[in-house]
Amino acid sequence: MSRVAVIGTGYVGLTTGACLAHLGHTVVCADIDESKVSELRAGRIPIVELGLEQLVAEGLADGRLSFVVGGATAVTDCDIAFLCVPTPQGDDGSADLSYVQRAAEQIAPHLPHEAIVVNKSTVPVGSTKVVERALKRPDVRVVSNPEFLREGSAVQDFLKPDRVVVGADDQAAALKVASLYDGLTTRVIITDPASAETIKYAANAFLATKLSFINAIAAICEGVGADINDVVVGMGSDKRIGESFLRPGPGWGGSCFPKDSRALIKIAEEAGYDFQLLDGVIAVNDQQFDRVANKVRTAVGGELSGKRAAVWGLAFKAGTDDLRDSPAVAIAERLLASGARLTVFDPTVDRPRAGVPAGVTIASDPIDCCRDADVLVVLTEWDEFKWVDPVAVATVTTSRIVVDARNLLDRTQWQKAGFAHQGIGR
Ligand SMILES: NC(=O)c1ccc[n+]([C@@H]2O[C@H](COP(=O)([O-])OP(=O)(O)OC[C@H]3O[C@@H](n4cnc5c(N)ncnc54)[C@H](O)[C@@H]3O)[C@@H](O)[C@H]2O)c1
Repeated sequence: MSRVAVIGTGYVGLTTGACLAHLGHTVVCADIDESKVSELRAGRIPIVELGLEQLVAEGLADGRLSFVVGGATAVTDCDIAFLCVPTPQGDDGSADLSYVQRAAEQIAPHLPHEAIVVNKSTVPVGSTKVVERALKRPDVRVVSNPEFLREGSAVQDFLKPDRVVVGADDQAAALKVASLYDGLTTRVIITDPASAETIKYAANAFLATKLSFINAIAAICEGVGADINDVVVGMGSDKRIGESFLRPGPGWGGSCFPKDSRALIKIAEEAGYDFQLLDGVIAVNDQQFDRVANKVRTAVGGELSGKRAAVWGLAFKAGTDDLRDSPAVAIAERLLASGARLTVFDPTVDRPRAGVPAGVTIASDPIDCCRDADVLVVLTEWDEFKWVDPVAVATVTTSRIVVDARNLLDRTQWQKAGFAHQGIGR
């Protein structure tokens, strides 16, 4: 078993730390946010992530997991240090590596002799070298180990991954990092750093492409009178295609796909390739936000100004409280800009916080959200929305119109309750 340090306790770092402790390693997690660290020490996790709080409690109780302020303290006894800090979009679209560089500089003087530093943050090709330069520690090997977890099922994805990818120039360091995952039944792909870094960006760009593709097909379905649900089953039954990630919706977003797609376009540009396909994927996605906002506009008679819209969902997808680059937020902002008044309900939003559009009213339950609404708009696929009784909703709304951007609700049931139901691609 190894002694591990994890720098950054966000969605990726906290999941990595808690899961590695669960696998038997001794893990010290560090963050620069002191209040986050004191909450974590008390076993309270600052994010919504299924099963994570239990794993943190387990790790704290058996002494394998601890939390400290600052990377320097975390790494003094470690064999392996993971960098799990943000890599936001820079001004020119490329990934901003300043957090990674700063974290590397902070830990460099405190790393034990011949420790290994792992880039788990999503970083462009060549970042292993960037970290090596920031560390200035020739005895320390830098390895790439990109993370593929999905928010909302992060623990499950970490413990039952489709694969583990390790990229290193040094075989011994690669094997040491791979051995952290010995307790998991999965395929371990050991490669060079550039390939590991490319795998991560290529995977995210491909998933974004699938989503934009199916949203484009959904738009065609609306024009020709086809039903996207049947089209997806028909297409997805082909084993070469598969149904996964072919669900039409309000567009894709979240903390990774938008910034990683733009970063890959930049990486391609620097490599001398004009990635027009990915430009198109992003453009289709932006159009999708507009298409959904226009559907709402059309549904209320062509003019949103002064209309009341009830919005179900702000998180970028179900199972997470993450509002970063959420399609729901992008669409809510378009509705607000057109003069609509918005009341929103999301199970993870009980008060204004970063990412919640200014000027919305926050409701405490889905029915209350619909009071006096001219239209109901479903933007996040929270399971609980499926079970709301449309008859109860009908008693509080002004009009019976629902725009279901997730094709989540049972259309027949809502129509029976008197609602005009508009989905995506049907
Ligand atoms: N969120 C995801 O679903 C996901 C999935 C795969 C990969 N990634 C990648 O993983 C990386 C982290 O993403 P995230 O969503 O966990 O970010 P996050 O914003 O949730 O968390 C980052 C944490 O790092 C801390 N931090 C920043 N600088 C620090 C420093 N010098 N020392 C210690 N702590 C520091 C911040 O306070 C924060 O708590 C990004 O590169 C992201 O692209 C994210």
